[in-house]
Amino acid sequence: MTERTDKPLVDVQGLQIHFGSVSNPVRAVDGVDFQIFSGEIVALVGESGSGKSISALALAKLVPEPAGRIVGGSVNFQGLEVFDLDNSELRKLRGARIAYIFQEPATSLNPVYTVGWQIGEAIRLHRKGVPIKAEVEKLLASVGLPDPARAAKAYPHELSGGMQQRVMIAMALACDPELLVADEPTTALDVTVQKQILDLLIELRKTRGLSILLITHNLGIVANTADRVYVMNGGKIVESGETKTVLRTPHHEYTRKLLKAVPRLRKET
Ligand SMILES: Nc1ncnc2c1ncn2[C@@H]1O[C@H](COP(=O)(O)OP(=O)(O)OP(=O)(O)O)[C@@H](O)[C@H]1O
Ligand SMILES: [Mg+2]
Repeated sequence: MTERTDKPLVDVQGLQIHFGSVSNPVRAVDGVDFQIFSGEIVALVGESGSGKSISALALAKLVPEPAGRIVGGSVNFQGLEVFDLDNSELRKLRGARIAYIFQEPATSLNPVYTVGWQIGEAIRLHRKGVPIKAEVEKLLASVGLPDPARAAKAYPHELSGGMQQRVMIAMALACDPELLVADEPTTALDVTVQKQILDLLIELRKTRGLSILLITHNLGIVANTADRVYVMNGGKIVESGETKTVLRTPHHEYTRKLLKAVPRLRKET
């Protein structure tokens, strides 16, 4: 991998997160380093329980407490030492500069409000003075919803899973974040819709200069989407590099195992 000389947007060093008892902890994240540069799509890949989600939540100091404890390391986000921030500074970081989307859009959307209202709330909270209705429709159009005015009036259950995930992405973008963390964003979707959502992420990186941390257990998804990849196993990064290099010449036994688990790596047609 070529060394970059510019400063990363996110710089994680020596991150350690424990669960359970202090005397005999579960070392869920055990000394992890990774970087995300501006405009990059970086994948964190690994099997279930390897520590991907917890590492990603730590970027905004969102580790579930008191069960989980950050016991070591640092996260630097554009010069901010995240673990040193107080609650009001953390609120400004969360949602506004680092936004998250998760696997099940339906569980993150409120069933009793229209999607337009929910996206509007995010704008109201973080961006005072922005005309809400126009901005909601602009956001819905930017995530590929064909009739934004109509979509804004819909309740979540009236939309398909793929459309719900597009709405979640619109909501995440409502505050104009610098980093989008997408934690298994397509796992609950069928393959065709999965590809559409990944294409949307690639497009948003291009049009908005968005940086994306993409979490997945599927190296097939990584192949077509990410610039660089970090492979996690048992709370540690076992391999990292440019996606093409890692997939072509995996060095670590565990990466080879993950590659074998992908039925076939299809190139974009
Ligand atoms: N709320 C919790 N309480 C106790 N232990 C937890 C909790 N959340 C995570 N852990 C521990 O941290 C480890 C890593 O969890 P994490 O959610 O980061 O895994 P993951 O790689 O995202 O897995 P998956 O692919 O299933 O989402 C788990 O194996 C578990 O030991
Ligand atoms: Mg997870």
